[in-house]
Amino acid sequence: MSATVIIGAQWGDEGKAKFVDFLSSDYQYIVRYAGGANAGHTVIFEGKKFVFHLVPSGILHKHSEVVIGNGVVLDYDYFLQEVRELEAEHIPVMERLYLSDSMHLILPYHKMIDQAGEEMLGANKIGTTGRGIGPAYQDKMSRKGLRLGDLHNEAYLKERLDAIMSFKGKELELLYSLPPLDKNKIFDELRSFYEKVKHRIINSPFFLNEKLKQGKKILLEGAQATCLDVDHGTYPYVTSSNPTIGGALTGSGIGPRWVDNIIGISKAYTTRVGSGPFPTELTGDLGNHLRELGREYGATTGRPRRCGWLDTEALRMAVRVNGLTALAIAKMDVLDEFDTIKLGVGYTIKNETIDHFPSYGLERVTPIYEEMPGWKTKISSVRSFADLPVNAQKYIRRIEDLIEIPVRIISVGADRNATIVRP
Ligand code: GDP
Ligand code: IMO
Ligand code: MG
Repeated sequence: MSATVIIGAQWGDEGKAKFVDFLSSDYQYIVRYAGGANAGHTVIFEGKKFVFHLVPSGILHKHSEVVIGNGVVLDYDYFLQEVRELEAEHIPVMERLYLSDSMHLILPYHKMIDQAGEEMLGANKIGTTGRGIGPAYQDKMSRKGLRLGDLHNEAYLKERLDAIMSFKGKELELLYSLPPLDKNKIFDELRSFYEKVKHRIINSPFFLNEKLKQGKKILLEGAQATCLDVDHGTYPYVTSSNPTIGGALTGSGIGPRWVDNIIGISKAYTTRVGSGPFPTELTGDLGNHLRELGREYGATTGRPRRCGWLDTEALRMAVRVNGLTALAIAKMDVLDEFDTIKLGVGYTIKNETIDHFPSYGLERVTPIYEEMPGWKTKISSVRSFADLPVNAQKYIRRIEDLIEIPVRIISVGADRNATIVRP
């Protein structure tokens, strides 16, 4: 067994990329398995900031190769732009990157439909990133999508594009009153994209399983998070994929028997971008203060993130549906200056305690809090658990009690080395 999966345990932006980057030195292949350019994964490396949307964050390790798996929906414009930006920073990408032939492509109309759909929803909008994610997965499921492998044969591509786009053109016109599509322009864009990537297209399930058989180690990089999962999250305020463990397997083609570690990532508090319920949200000055301390602004859209206390009821759901073997906690340093810290330990509805994260009616719950004394010490230079202030150790131990899995890694700063690993 030699695959490890990294999964967001909250509503995204937990610091997944920081841990992927930290762990990548032990892995030969880093694989994205879900989502698209809605993700914003930040790594601070040698004082420089890199924000990844589609390229797996492990690319910063010179020995690693990276794979964009079949579960991803790829926006070819964003992808090529990201590759150009990385190569301008002297990070070779194309010779170390593979693209799954069965991943679906995001076409210009997916973004148009995403944005028009949000506008039509008005006050009920999801608050999507506008990157075409929902419409692309919708087409995948309704079998009107275009896959990367469809680009291999020009005649087939033309035929497939004709069939899909005559249908999509009607949808754009009748549902959204959007102008007709320029089929030839899209065809030319796709051909030009194909010429740039054709030598990197693979059957990724075959490729990855062969590598595992050869004893290579694979790290699966999750995007989005458990509470944004279309099945397990706060539907309809979710993304349109399964960022959870099932999506990691389906979206990479790796069998479950290869997976030995499933690491959930959480912040030491909680954030959320976009609409939807968030029980432990702090809406007043405290929330604004937390946002400024944690610099909580979206890596993809720049939107201010909603901030609140850590919610271990939500974490317990993440432990359950992913089978997490351990948790990694990011941004402990952001809580350095608080006199007291609240920890969400459960929920009540109409004064009755409930025993799990509900699939319905999360907006009706009231969190139950425990209050713990803060540590009031700067911890960003601490490198061992024993050297953390006692109150910080107590905070971690209390979280472990509540979620019943170990906290194995603690991040105390954005930099790769600002990390504590517990034996
Ligand atoms: P991801 O989407 O889960 O990869 O997370 P994002 O990159 O969207 O957001 C996490 C943010 O927190 C990034 O700006 C990181 O540089 C930053 N970060 C990660 N770990 C730490 C930490 O331990 N302390 C601090 N202060 N910042 C961190
Ligand atoms: P990473 O990988 C935080 C949110 C959007 C919106 C909802 C649906 O960086 O953690 P979508 O564009 O996916 O249809 O939007 O999901 N969302 C994220 N929030 N981090 C992300 O990714 C997100 N990806 C999508 O804000 O509420
Ligand atoms: Mg992010």
